[in-house]
Amino acid sequence: MPRQYQHPILPQTAHDEDALQSFVISMRGHISANLTPGNRQAFERDVAPTYKKSHGRAPANRHEVRRAMLRHPFHQSWSALIRTTQEMIWDSPGHSALRQIDALNAAAKPKPKRKTSGTLTLDPSVKIPPYLSAVDIHCMPGNFHQEVAAEDDVYAAAVYDRGAYIYIMGGMGPLGDALGQMLVDYTKATFPDLAPKRILDMGCGIGGGTLPFVDAFPGAEVHGIDVSAPMLRYGHARAEALGGKMHFTQMNAERTSFPDASFDLVMTHIVVHETSQKALRNILKECRRLLKPGGVTLHCETPMYDARLSPFDQSQTDWDTYFNNEPFVGPMHGLDADALMREAGFADDELANGDLPLYVPGVDDGETGDDYRHRIGGYLSILGARRRV
Ligand SMILES: C[S@@+](CC[C@H](N)C(=O)[O-])C[C@H]1O[C@@H](n2cnc3c(N)ncnc32)[C@H](O)[C@@H]1O
Repeated sequence: MPRQYQHPILPQTAHDEDALQSFVISMRGHISANLTPGNRQAFERDVAPTYKKSHGRAPANRHEVRRAMLRHPFHQSWSALIRTTQEMIWDSPGHSALRQIDALNAAAKPKPKRKTSGTLTLDPSVKIPPYLSAVDIHCMPGNFHQEVAAEDDVYAAAVYDRGAYIYIMGGMGPLGDALGQMLVDYTKATFPDLAPKRILDMGCGIGGGTLPFVDAFPGAEVHGIDVSAPMLRYGHARAEALGGKMHFTQMNAERTSFPDASFDLVMTHIVVHETSQKALRNILKECRRLLKPGGVTLHCETPMYDARLSPFDQSQTDWDTYFNNEPFVGPMHGLDADALMREAGFADDELANGDLPLYVPGVDDGETGDDYRHRIGGYLSILGARRRV
């Protein structure tokens, strides 16, 4: 597993915190490699045959699989382990961030006399949407926006930066930016003539997915918006420390204050599965409004539930909907991507939904010599469209 890049705003990890974080990573690795495959065995050997006996047919969809699996003792134990370790993921980063919160807030605070290349614009009138304030997404206490200090707080972002690295076991690389790297590759391969002058990342968080676009399109003006002030403060300080010029602004992606047709590329990384269906529809409409003629919108997501995923495979990711405080995962992945983009106002010949090939970071594929280009066979889904010229 690659070591997380120690940028200056990242919380320092003390000895005992490091021990606990290493334990959680190892435990999750063990569950994933050795226990999770047992769910499929339990389904194929016990659950499916029993279901067929009593119903005269196989389970027809992910809901029937889930309800049947819930009664199986192996699945129950696996589920309890995953949930318990999911809560543990955030424990140590939370303590660690709290222990050094004054120093973190001071380090991230924009200094009046220091010239920065990018900008930070906060708007305290922006409200956290109810779908974010009601749920601590993936069991992260306080979600993305909780503040623990009276001003200039970065607590939630510090917890997210370290916790997300543990959650995906370093799978997004030392800078947590593999998704952005992959989306850059996809954008260039799918729209080779696109030379974006203005780029917007909605729900940019700490800018992990955005900075690769700063590097890939050096002439472009790159913006990131988020409703969470702590994420934006931390993201700005982090981007400056890493030498990436981007503009962070506190805005709700459902209704931004940018003028019509002001961007060539509008994107999100792993945001839509954490968004209510109503907000998602508003965001996609907003993307269309913001695109210049010929502009592209791309939303990078875990795989949609299409015919390639069996009801069992769908039920595996749908576990998050019920047990990982991710209420929008199942409903969102079950949507028809084309219908959704049409509803946002895109015409049939503007639709550009597709698959994003998945790579493992930190491994050289021997061809390009690039750390982010080792294909592992999986894919992510892209909800996309390109406005007519
Ligand atoms: C899972 S994080 C992803 C962050 C980032 N895109 C990344 O790849 O690391 C989701 C982010 O979307 C933000 N978000 C959710 N709904 C939003 C909305 N309607 N407007 C702006 N930001 C939103 C959250 O505050 C959070 O920072």
